[in-house]
Amino acid sequence: MRIAFVGKGGSGKTTAAAVFSRYLAELGHPVLAVDADINQHLGQALGHDGPPPRALGSDLAWLKDHLRGTNPRIPSADVMIKTTPPGPGSRLLDLDPAGELLRRCSVDVAGVRHLVTGEFDEADIGVSCYHSKTGAVELYLNHLLDGPGEYVVVDMTAGADAFASGLFTRFDLTVLVSEPTRRGVGVYRQYAEHAAGHGVALRVLGNKVVDAEDVAYLRGEVGDALLGWFGQSGWVRAAERGAVAPVAQLEPANLATLDAVRAALDEQERDWAAYHRGTVAFHLRNAQAWGNRSAGTDLAAQIDPDFRPGPVTTTH
Ligand SMILES: Nc1ncnc2c1ncn2[C@@H]1O[C@H](COP(=O)(O)OP(=O)(O)OP(=O)(O)O)[C@@H](O)[C@H]1O
Ligand SMILES: [Mg+2]
Repeated sequence: MRIAFVGKGGSGKTTAAAVFSRYLAELGHPVLAVDADINQHLGQALGHDGPPPRALGSDLAWLKDHLRGTNPRIPSADVMIKTTPPGPGSRLLDLDPAGELLRRCSVDVAGVRHLVTGEFDEADIGVSCYHSKTGAVELYLNHLLDGPGEYVVVDMTAGADAFASGLFTRFDLTVLVSEPTRRGVGVYRQYAEHAAGHGVALRVLGNKVVDAEDVAYLRGEVGDALLGWFGQSGWVRAAERGAVAPVAQLEPANLATLDAVRAALDEQERDWAAYHRGTVAFHLRNAQAWGNRSAGTDLAAQIDPDFRPGPVTTTH
């Protein structure tokens, strides 16, 4: 199951993603926490104090070669773009930390597998853009066969940047973190508008909620989309100072909110066929908009019309 945390800058996306990841790990679930933000803070919020793992977006040629496997429709990494769908021969992934990709690009933080897209660095300035790095996450998710009881938690870039690609449609649940402010709920409305018609399950998680008035404000603005809320948390402040305690010690009301987030996520059912249709639709859009020109070939030919990803692919 995949969950993305989105929202206004500073709303608490990284905090929510880190706490939720640790919560799942403490319950004994496999969990991969992905930092897809430009400013990479998720590792720190998880309590990681070593060097960051090798970035997934730092070597796109390796990633593309790894994922295309022996797919005859993708003869080289050069013609693989962020939306290129998997097909027969592609390497489909699981969350086993012993797998080649996770061994290469992730670290363990207290039972959470942590993966990063990579910082916006000097080489990106004026040459490409950060989208190529979030593109690495899109490619990764499009080749991942995850099932119930295992989780991918993604800390996304602020605001509407998530719409620069099809990445925003790759989740079972998208949680928009919002403080009880006009700007916070404004970002929610904008997100909901952009996501409309793309089958995105979008809910709101209030954050830094102080009193009943804050809750009433959020409920009045977002209605039933409100999934729950976090209050000001001493646990989070202590974690911020480097003392990350077990999530079991989180304030009970905040812990109950994590239960609600998990319940909402577990309730979702992945429709693999619809998921793959989305992959193909975004690929065609990207191919027409820039990919065909950039690759010098018709990228629609990368789509195998008979390919169906998902558990069915592995059992038949
Ligand atoms: N419930 C909370 N209780 C106390 N402090 C909090 C809470 N939520 C977030 N914070 C603090 O607020 C600050 C911003 O949170 P965070 O970094 O998670 O936001 P963000 O949305 O990821 O920001 P950015 O857009 O910069 O990535 C951090 O210092 C964090 O520790
Ligand atoms: Mg953040």
